[in-house]
Amino acid sequence: MKLTELIHIKYPIIQGAMAHIARPSLVSAVSNAGGLGILASAGLTGEELRDAIQETKHLTNQPFGVNLMLQMPNIKELVDVIVDERVAVVTTGAGNPAPIIPILKEAGIKVLPVIASVRHAKKMATLGADGLIVEGQESGGHIGTASTLTLIPQVVDAVDLPVIAAGGIADGRGVAAMFALGAVGVQLGTVFLASEECPIPLEYKQAVVEATDQDTVVMGRLYNRAVRVLQNDFSSTCLETEKQGVSPEEWQKVTSGSLLRAVQGESQTGAMMAGEISGLVHDIRPVKEIMEHIITTYIKALSQLNKEI
Ligand SMILES: Cc1cc2nc3c(=O)[nH]c(=O)nc-3n(C[C@H](O)[C@H](O)[C@H](O)COP(=O)(O)O)c2cc1C
Repeated sequence: MKLTELIHIKYPIIQGAMAHIARPSLVSAVSNAGGLGILASAGLTGEELRDAIQETKHLTNQPFGVNLMLQMPNIKELVDVIVDERVAVVTTGAGNPAPIIPILKEAGIKVLPVIASVRHAKKMATLGADGLIVEGQESGGHIGTASTLTLIPQVVDAVDLPVIAAGGIADGRGVAAMFALGAVGVQLGTVFLASEECPIPLEYKQAVVEATDQDTVVMGRLYNRAVRVLQNDFSSTCLETEKQGVSPEEWQKVTSGSLLRAVQGESQTGAMMAGEISGLVHDIRPVKEIMEHIITTYIKALSQLNKEI
């Protein structure tokens, strides 16, 4: 099924949730531009989430979604708010969505779990997910081990669900490539960090714009908490700490709250999560321009495809 028909949007382009960052300004801008914005809920109370949803509704009359990180201690309260506010779509991560999928579906909400392996894809298909966001390790933020290029076709072959590709996409060439692999939509995060509507400090946006293909690192693999970030003083300290093999508790202490610090302006002592595709992001633009660029470069990519082999 076409993603545009499944969730009633113009373009099959989702703005991935980004904790502390995917706030109403960014989410509504993406939905107003024909994509699907997703509010992040990690770290929010139920009332804060309700405020964010209501603010987004004031800013757009288009569908938008909410992301649920399933290990959040107040997950039940967050689900209640989402059902009450009749949000169109929920994406889930970091845990087992089995207990909440029936509640959301009963309320007519589409559920798109974010997964990073074929095994998880198969599991989600048995739970009644409406589609899957399949995320490769090129992505910014928390990641798995397989790359987008290898993972998408394997998941497409393994399950009979719409697949949305995430990780390493910033323009229409990436979209065309994912469609060729069998995806019906894409989810992008990093490219929207460098948008005017994104509520992060200019220094963080500038760091994305100035990054090359070699400027992200993955830390936390040793602790099964791999996260892709832009290189800075903090990431160097973390990698050194990891090399020393500190305990998981110590690692948790060092890294806890580090994205929030970056979002609050601590560009060297915080974790500026961003993906490998940062090297393709060259300037800070309004969301509408980013979306238009994706569409025009998609059309160009199709016309330039060498159909002979
Ligand atoms: C700063 C940042 C924070 C993120 N936070 C979340 C999150 O809270 N929940 C989630 O499901 N995904 C999160 N992600 C992943 C994105 O939603 C998206 O899938 C990913 O960025 C796509 O890959 P890309 O960065 O290559 O575009 C985050 C990504 C970034 C860059």
